[in-house]
Amino acid sequence: MTERIPLAVVGCGGMGHRHIYGLAELESVGRSPFRLVAACDLNEANARSLAEEAERRFGTRPEVAGDLAALARAAPDLAAVDVCTDPGHHHTIAAEALARGWHVMVEKPMGLTVRACQAMEAAAKHTPGRVLAVAENYRRDPINRLARALLDAGAIGTPRLCLEQGVGGGDRIIISAWRHQKVGSGLLLDVGVHFADILEYLLGEITHVYAQTRLHEPIRHRPQEDETGVQGFYARWPLPETISATAEDAAYAVLTFRSGAVAQYTVDYAGHGRPFNHRLVYGSAGSLELPADRKGLPIRLTTAKGEVYDDARILERVPGFRLDEVTTILFGEERAWEYGFPFEETDRKILAIEYADFGSAIREGGTPEVTAAQGARSVAISYAILESSCAQQTLAVDDVLSGRVRAYQREVDEYLGL
Ligand SMILES: NC(=O)c1ccc[n+]([C@@H]2O[C@H](COP(=O)([O-])OP(=O)(O)OC[C@H]3O[C@@H](n4cnc5c(N)ncnc54)[C@H](O)[C@@H]3O)[C@@H](O)[C@H]2O)c1
Repeated sequence: MTERIPLAVVGCGGMGHRHIYGLAELESVGRSPFRLVAACDLNEANARSLAEEAERRFGTRPEVAGDLAALARAAPDLAAVDVCTDPGHHHTIAAEALARGWHVMVEKPMGLTVRACQAMEAAAKHTPGRVLAVAENYRRDPINRLARALLDAGAIGTPRLCLEQGVGGGDRIIISAWRHQKVGSGLLLDVGVHFADILEYLLGEITHVYAQTRLHEPIRHRPQEDETGVQGFYARWPLPETISATAEDAAYAVLTFRSGAVAQYTVDYAGHGRPFNHRLVYGSAGSLELPADRKGLPIRLTTAKGEVYDDARILERVPGFRLDEVTTILFGEERAWEYGFPFEETDRKILAIEYADFGSAIREGGTPEVTAAQGARSVAISYAILESSCAQQTLAVDDVLSGRVRAYQREVDEYLGL
């Protein structure tokens, strides 16, 4: 039997816990390449909580450590780390872990600024043979795999327009206080990288951005008990009654793709009234309405002749569509067009796919699906939106990616010492 890769989770908050639920899901289908040997967190209670949950799921209790030096002592055979700290620590932890000879998977956003991503890419260049992967999950949703297959097969002809829009949130604290701080990773970065990645996954490279951004709700309040959703994972960490927000909470943008397609991108986390979510792609021969990520709802394809495909018949348009082996095992269907698991189970399955991909890249000396270069692009696109509003002009993504344009990020870089 192939040796399991000794793994530690670094950062044992909400996402660190969700990751081990994903690892256990992969273990349950006999596909885990990893052996969880340690849990590392500055906050010892969080590391211990993760170790206890791991013991319940895997039968052995991982070591507990407070920093990477302690981690190296506690787990001398460690080969890989999964970095799930809040974003401001990703670049220092990834660089140190790579220098220690460990493979690294880092949660999105890859780094807190473009400079932070550049520091990570430089560290990876100095440690050839070590994998640096980004744990971006939306694209791994089987429904997004099908969407990509439909676009590639020309089901709507040439894509011309994408509407990526989400409004809601009001004046509530969304998940954590740091998600509302400019130096912590505001929502336009923290969630923005998901949208940047999925848009590029579906439609190719984004080249230019024009945006207006706003901070509508400088004071935010703790959500009511019944306003849960993803926040349910965070119930054990009580939120303050109110917080002062310093990060922008709304972006109204136009994104241009290398292909010539254009996206209207509206994300407003301060929307009051009826919440609204939309991902639509219009092409020269039809349209695709994509469901919210990780919900398993069907895609609706409408052709130029008005034919609608919103059930299993949609698969007729993509005869070659097949999910990869691990996704097929986890979702129980090689040609999934819908699925119906509770959110927590879907979340576990998608995080299991990330781990399988990271493990394959380590074992086969290959490239993970979401590379550091792609992770850095998502960060640059998210900042291009903020930089564009700051500069009051259209910006080339390349100018933000190279670091030439960084007026908005300067304060964050200074905070990080970059
Ligand atoms: N892909 C997704 O759907 C998704 C969802 C939620 C969070 N995330 C990402 O996961 C990461 C973590 O988010 P979260 O919600 O779990 O945050 P969190 O605040 O719940 O947890 C962060 C944890 O990291 C620990 N930590 C901070 N600095 C550390 C350091 N230097 N060394 C060790 N531990 C340290 C904190 O003590 C805390 O336990 C973020 O990058 C976030 O964007 C991704």
